[in-house]
Amino acid sequence: MKVLITGGAGYIGSVTTRVLLARGHDVEVLDDFSTGHREALPPGIPLHEGSLLDAGFVDRVLAAPPDAVLHFAAFSLVGESAAHPLKYYRNNVGGSVNLLDAVARSGVRRFVFSSSAAVYGEPDEMPITEHAPTRPVNPYGHTKLAIEWALADTAAAVGFPAVALRYFNACGASRELGEDHEPETHLIPRLLRSLVDPGVDFAVFGDDYPTPDGTCIRDYVHVVDLAEAHALALEGDLRPGLSVYNLGTETGASVREVLAAAAAVTGREIAPRIEPRRPGDPARLVAGNARARRDLGWRPRADGLTSILADAWRWHRDHPRGYRG
Ligand SMILES: NC(=O)c1ccc[n+]([C@@H]2O[C@H](COP(=O)([O-])OP(=O)(O)OC[C@H]3O[C@@H](n4cnc5c(N)ncnc54)[C@H](O)[C@@H]3O)[C@@H](O)[C@H]2O)c1
Repeated sequence: MKVLITGGAGYIGSVTTRVLLARGHDVEVLDDFSTGHREALPPGIPLHEGSLLDAGFVDRVLAAPPDAVLHFAAFSLVGESAAHPLKYYRNNVGGSVNLLDAVARSGVRRFVFSSSAAVYGEPDEMPITEHAPTRPVNPYGHTKLAIEWALADTAAAVGFPAVALRYFNACGASRELGEDHEPETHLIPRLLRSLVDPGVDFAVFGDDYPTPDGTCIRDYVHVVDLAEAHALALEGDLRPGLSVYNLGTETGASVREVLAAAAAVTGREIAPRIEPRRPGDPARLVAGNARARRDLGWRPRADGLTSILADAWRWHRDHPRGYRG
């Protein structure tokens, strides 16, 4: 299948690009390198360099329509989205509207969107199923939900199947590709970077949550498992209109459990500073994934946290300055 990947130079998009190439798909990437890395692209891959905000550019790319579009490109820093909401509405919603407009006029037969657990906000029930109310609590989450709505309406009007994959906490690495965001706000890469670079500060935010050890519980999902879910969404039978799937493991780990697992994998002592809670961090977010298992046949790995930490640690040791070295 000919597949266009927006954001294919980013963390999850680049791993997905390699997984699809390995499965024999014909992959092209669209990226403006605002947060992505040229080094993360396979040599020689067809590249459309430019922004989704440039509607003329997007139209030209879609003039030779792919069979499917995988849409990863977005800004995704929650704190920054609260400080600069319109930067997020413009890039995430505006860019997606340009893309959907071009897709609607082309022969694209399938569209897969990178949504987020952020659309749920602070849900009342765990694990979170796709039936939970969508009540995002920050502008980033609002943009993801707005794009789901735009996608649902476009898919219904035009008549192509679309999928929104609501990722929980993506982490881990493949052999050659890892997580290199600037700034890095995610727990695992920030922790591992602090172990290879003494200049990187690491703190735990809040140890007084209503959880067994007082730290936040999250659902950590291996980036290669996420990439495989995209392949399954591309290759499987889908209903017309929008289908929504949670991608998480149904297993929560607290920050302290992650630190203990990281200490075991790295052989380092980890005794972080404790800072006050950050506003808007729910105590517990764990995905129900029965729907993705049933419809997509998706099976996230069972030894989740151990292989996530082992793979991420190998990548950070090999790349102490990320893709810069
Ligand atoms: N990392 C996570 O834990 C997580 C969790 C839930 C959802 N998501 C979503 O998954 C997607 C990928 O996340 P990631 O961690 O790989 O992010 P990333 O920042 O590493 O990748 C995003 C890519 O999109 C590109 N991009 C951004 N705006 C663009 C534009 N206007 N035009 C063209 N290219 C543009 C960037 O250059 C980058 O290569 C995002 O949509 C994110 O919101 C990520």
